[in-house]
Amino acid sequence: MGVRPGAAGRPRRPDGRRAALALAAGTLALAVATHAARQTTPPPAAAQTAPAGTTTVKDKVYTTEQADRGEKSFQQGCPKCHLFDGPVTKDGPPLGGDVFFNKWEGKSVFEMGVEIRLNMPPDGSIVIDPDEAADLIAFILRKNGFPPGDKPLTVDPSSKTLLFVRNK
Ligand code: HEC
Repeated sequence: MGVRPGAAGRPRRPDGRRAALALAAGTLALAVATHAARQTTPPPAAAQTAPAGTTTVKDKVYTTEQADRGEKSFQQGCPKCHLFDGPVTKDGPPLGGDVFFNKWEGKSVFEMGVEIRLNMPPDGSIVIDPDEAADLIAFILRKNGFPPGDKPLTVDPSSKTLLFVRNK
């Protein structure tokens, strides 16, 4: 990612950039999937089984300190648009529940980091750095019942193989 301008003069993203990003994220997911598929024969498509070479958000992938910090920064504006269950509202999608997992199951923490850093909040009023994005995701994981551990979450490229799964 390049250097980003400060909050005050931050230009809005043209739609094209967003589409390109979505495309890049898609290509990436495909690349990861293809790579994983080449390594071993994937297990039968059981929803709960992560592909070879990946881990899931069930594996104690964030710390309590991160989730605590994430909770604080989440309170600064995110609840205006995001609940943790139910349908997509006029303000935004839920960050938990069926609608959320239907969309995010099998996607990576890296992708969510990109979404939060580049697109949240949509008005661009806050600039979210990678550590803060990781904290926010840690909080989202905790809200969804995933257990904390000793290892801090990151949204760096290593998180491309850390995948969302349903917590059931
Ligand atoms: C003004 C409303 C608004 C605010 C404030 C906002 N969001 Fe969002 N958020 C959205 C919308 C709308 C989407 C869906 C974007 C899309 O689908 O392209 C979204 C998508 C997301 C997603 C991806 C979820 C999904 O299923 O698409 C995450 C994670 C997220 N927001 C986190 C945050 C966090 C963390 C904050 C606070 C820093 C925040 N949002 C603030 C409206 C908002």
